[in-house]
This record gives sequence, structure tokens and C-alpha cells, in this order.
Amino acid sequence: MQGKIIGGRTEGAFHTCAVGDVSDAVRDAMKGSPQLLPEDIYFRDECDTIYDRNGDVVEVMCCDYGFRSGTGRMYQDGYRAVPKSAWDLAVENFAIEYNALRRSVRFDEYRRISNQNPPQSPFGQLSYWIGGFVVNSLAKVDKALEERGMVGEIDSELARNICERGANEECTEILSKLKQLKLVNEAVWERERQREKAGGGVEASLPVKAAYLVLCYVLDVLYNNRPMQRFWFLEVIARIPYFSFISMLHLYESLGWWRAGAELRKVHFAEEWNELHHLQIMETLGGDKNWIDRFLAQHTAIVYYWMLLVFYFISPETAYNFSELVERHAVDTYTEFVECNADVLKTMPAPSVAALYYLGSDIYMFDEFQTKREPRRPLCATMYDVFCNVRDDEMEHVMTMKACSDLTIGTELEQRRIPSTAEED
Ligand SMILES: [Fe+2]
Ligand SMILES: [Fe+2]
Repeated sequence: MQGKIIGGRTEGAFHTCAVGDVSDAVRDAMKGSPQLLPEDIYFRDECDTIYDRNGDVVEVMCCDYGFRSGTGRMYQDGYRAVPKSAWDLAVENFAIEYNALRRSVRFDEYRRISNQNPPQSPFGQLSYWIGGFVVNSLAKVDKALEERGMVGEIDSELARNICERGANEECTEILSKLKQLKLVNEAVWERERQREKAGGGVEASLPVKAAYLVLCYVLDVLYNNRPMQRFWFLEVIARIPYFSFISMLHLYESLGWWRAGAELRKVHFAEEWNELHHLQIMETLGGDKNWIDRFLAQHTAIVYYWMLLVFYFISPETAYNFSELVERHAVDTYTEFVECNADVLKTMPAPSVAALYYLGSDIYMFDEFQTKREPRRPLCATMYDVFCNVRDDEMEHVMTMKACSDLTIGTELEQRRIPSTAEED
């Protein structure tokens, strides 16, 4: 399907696969194949011409390694502005995830996770052993049910998600480069220690620091050697504080307690919009491919949302302080990743969603969360630029969270209202 994207707008730009698109050869090759794991499956879009805000053509990556498509992502076919009823959405989502869960146990996507991230301790070994037992048992039950005709055939479900597997050289090459990307946990911590030593630490109370360290520890253990999945998990979580802050500010306004936060809601929404684009970049790169990662991230996000509501209810400064710590950790993580993988990242094209966001003509939402007066207009020619932009965005979030936690955000918002021409005069 061909479409055209001009100045950040898309008209039928993406092509997703249906069963009819899968060739017989591909279908035969994958039939019953236990080797076929989700990471091997990708979509190849008929890539459209993307123009930046100056009217120049932008080269982008036309491959997509993510789980979601259509309504699950922006800028794609099937993207609807208004949702269906909650019941319809829940049933639809359950059906998709139920099939994905079946595939995950039948084709053992957990085996690949354990190969990438082997257990580091006796507790880890025990966890993997128990996990392996559960996965094997579920796979046997599923197979037995399938043989008795009580559930659908798993192979046909898998076919639904495959289009021209392995047929496109460009996508295969990018996939192999994605697998080369590395992130060493200890290097991120060393970076954080050096920053603190140089006076760039974040002041926080003991309970806040403890909650932050628990979150980082869990991330390190679960996502060791799996950087894309780690970033995807982080970006799912990263949006949540802004949802919580906006909810609380809205509540205070509705109760008639506090209206000064209305401007703050605008900034937080722009930050959430920014995190949403980070999230979609990581999805394009396959971060949401595994069922277990989606399950963990989305359920953690719900708990995190309510936890931050309570934090904000008791002390907004504490909630902002916690977010500042997490955003600062994100800066360290992305900085380490960019520096460690610069050579490979510079040879990879930028995902189209990144080009649409950073180079599109509608830049209002991007400008809304910047802390400096001069406009920031980043490059987006390669994957290296994309990750540098994400890192720099996170730094802007740190600055905003800091200004919110030390209560100087009011002055900053005040200064924004002064036209820049007044300064020049
Ligand atoms: Fe982010
Ligand atoms: Fe962030």
C-alpha cells in the first residue's frame, strides 16, 4: 500500500500483513517449526516518501519489528481517533494476547530470553527452572487441547503475523544490527556514581531513594542483555507519572482547590506525548515483542500509576523528586547506550515514527516541554541521532521534574509567557 507523508501527516502509509499475504512457501517453512520465535518475525512496509518540515526527503527505516500495529500505534492504517466500547476493546485485546500467550509457550520464547539473560545466582537458576517447568506444562496442555479440537490451530495464528519472512535483505540486516546492540548495567551505575561525585546527584529522602533503587534493581535483573526490551519497559513506565500528575491536578481543579496547575498540565501532557513517541520508537525496534514483557510492563504501569497518585496526594514534591531520580537514570542509561553502540547506530536508518516526530512540521508539542528559550531542532538522519534525541529529551524531563520538586516551575512558566522580543529590546 502506498501513501505519502508530508510535513508530519500520513495518508495510509503503512501496510500490515493478512493471512492472504503470506506466501505458501513461507507458510510451509514455518508450519510446526519450533525454531520460529517472535524476534524473527517482522513487517516490511512499502516505505513512503517522508518530507521534513523544510520539504526535503528523509530516508527512514521501513522495517517494523514490533508486536503492535493498526490501532495499537499512531500513524498506521486502522488507527482510529475514537475507541470502541470498553467491552469490545477488552474482548479484542484478550483474544490477541491469548493467542500471543499460546505462541509464547508453544514456541518457547522464554528460551531465547534465558539464552540472552542467563541466571546470575542460585535464586535466578531456581526461577528459570520453575519458569521452564510451567512453560513446558502449559505447552503440553495447549497441544493436547489443540489435538482434540478444543482450541484453534496455533500455526494458522502464527501465519497471520508473518509477511515475507526473511525475504527482505534490508530488514534482515537491520535485525542483525539490532542484535549487536549492547548495554552493560555496571557501566550505567558507574556513570551514575561519577555524576554524583561531580555534584550532579539528586537529593532524595531515604524512602524515595529506596523505591528508586528497587525499581532499578528489578530492571537490571529482568532486562540484563536485552536493551530494546529494557527501553520499551522503561518507556511504558516513563509515561505514567505524567498521567498521575495530570489526574491529580485535574481533581484539584474539579474540586475547586487549585487552578494554578492548569499550565503545568500542558507541560506534563507534552512530556507524556514525548514519552509516547519514545515508546513507539522502541516498539518499532521490537521492544514489545515478547508476551511476558508486555504483561510485566503493562501491569507494573497500573500499579505505578496508583502509587504515584498516593505520592502526589501526600506530597507533590516527593512525587516529582521520585520522577527526577528515574528520569536522571534514563539519561545515564541512554548516554551509556549511545556511546557504547555509536558505530553500529550510525549505520542504521531512523524509524519513520522518529522522523515524523522530530522533523515534522507540527512541533508545538515538542517545544512545550523544552526548558531553554532557544528552539531545539535536533537531527534525525540515523538511529544514532534518534537515541541522542531520546537522551536529550530525558534531560529536559529531569529539568522540569527538578523545577517542580523545588517549586521553581512557577517562575519558569512565568518567563515563558514573556515574548522573546521583549528580552531583545
Ligand atoms: Fe522516554
Ligand atoms: Fe522521560
